[in-house]
Amino acid sequence: MPPLKGAVVVVTGASSGLGWHLAGGAARRGAQVVVVARRRERLEELAAQIVAAGGLRPLVVVADVGDPAQVAELGRQVEGSWGGAQVLINNAGRGAHGRLEDLAAARVEELIATNLLGAVYCTRAFLPGMRRRGRGHLVFVSSVLGELPAAEHALYCASKFAVNGLAESLDCELQGSGIGVTLVEPGLIETEFAQVSGRPPGRFSRLPASSAASVAERILEAVERGHFRVIPDGLGWLGIAFRRHFPRSARFFFRATFRRLLKPQGT
Ligand SMILES: NC(=O)c1ccc[n+]([C@@H]2O[C@H](COP(=O)([O-])OP(=O)(O)OC[C@H]3O[C@@H](n4cnc5c(N)ncnc54)[C@H](OP(=O)(O)O)[C@@H]3O)[C@@H](O)[C@H]2O)c1
Repeated sequence: MPPLKGAVVVVTGASSGLGWHLAGGAARRGAQVVVVARRRERLEELAAQIVAAGGLRPLVVVADVGDPAQVAELGRQVEGSWGGAQVLINNAGRGAHGRLEDLAAARVEELIATNLLGAVYCTRAFLPGMRRRGRGHLVFVSSVLGELPAAEHALYCASKFAVNGLAESLDCELQGSGIGVTLVEPGLIETEFAQVSGRPPGRFSRLPASSAASVAERILEAVERGHFRVIPDGLGWLGIAFRRHFPRSARFFFRATFRRLLKPQGT
């Protein structure tokens, strides 16, 4: 992928956290940014901030990525306004903390619709145009939990393991097409994510968290350099390497770690 200057870059989940910084970082590099999420006022605030910082005015599109009709309309709008996208960053996502059987059915469906189907629908909306033009780049924001297990995050893990399969398979399929793929596996990031997921305050507080701005920079650099896999933090990288090379030991390690983490305080 050539530098992002002048490229049309679609960022889903741009109204907060990582997506906010991905959109800002792409605009600073001279990209024409399309910002997508459900909260219009936050997207308008981001667009105003980008313009005030000297960036090109972003296209604001309010859409639920889990709704195929809204995503198809997003694709038509970007094609109609700016002639299609060169980069799609599938970033929109949410968590759902808790035991699988305790999650409400609506929450289960919303998580899978956002994290997995959202990436599928958005990719299906923009990939045909990229194939026609013989160039483009797809980014999938997964998680370290796309390769590692986590108690009380089974549904989230399932969705991110699936996103990894999607990204790795498309990477095989798109060889030689001029379309690149980047798979991102962040550890903890300081965003609204924990609050939206219903994670109890303090859970995982002993683990280091990265800033959204620094993770966004790593992702944008990886896109410009055409790197496939980005694991932004060292601990995440270690955990993934451990599980890949020593799967049996890793299973015992993660079971013991979560037993300790989930033990009620003071016991
Ligand atoms: N924070 C972490 O510790 C962490 C770690 C690893 C991976 N990740 C991944 O990083 C990505 C970004 O998360 P974040 O940490 O930046 O969380 P965040 O601050 O909660 O941002 C999530 C974004 O996704 C959007 N979104 C949620 N559901 C959507 C839907 N159905 N349609 C369209 N947009 C939707 C939200 O906007 P609206 O509510 O306005 O729609 C928001 O802009 C996610 O894929 C997450 O799984 C996060």
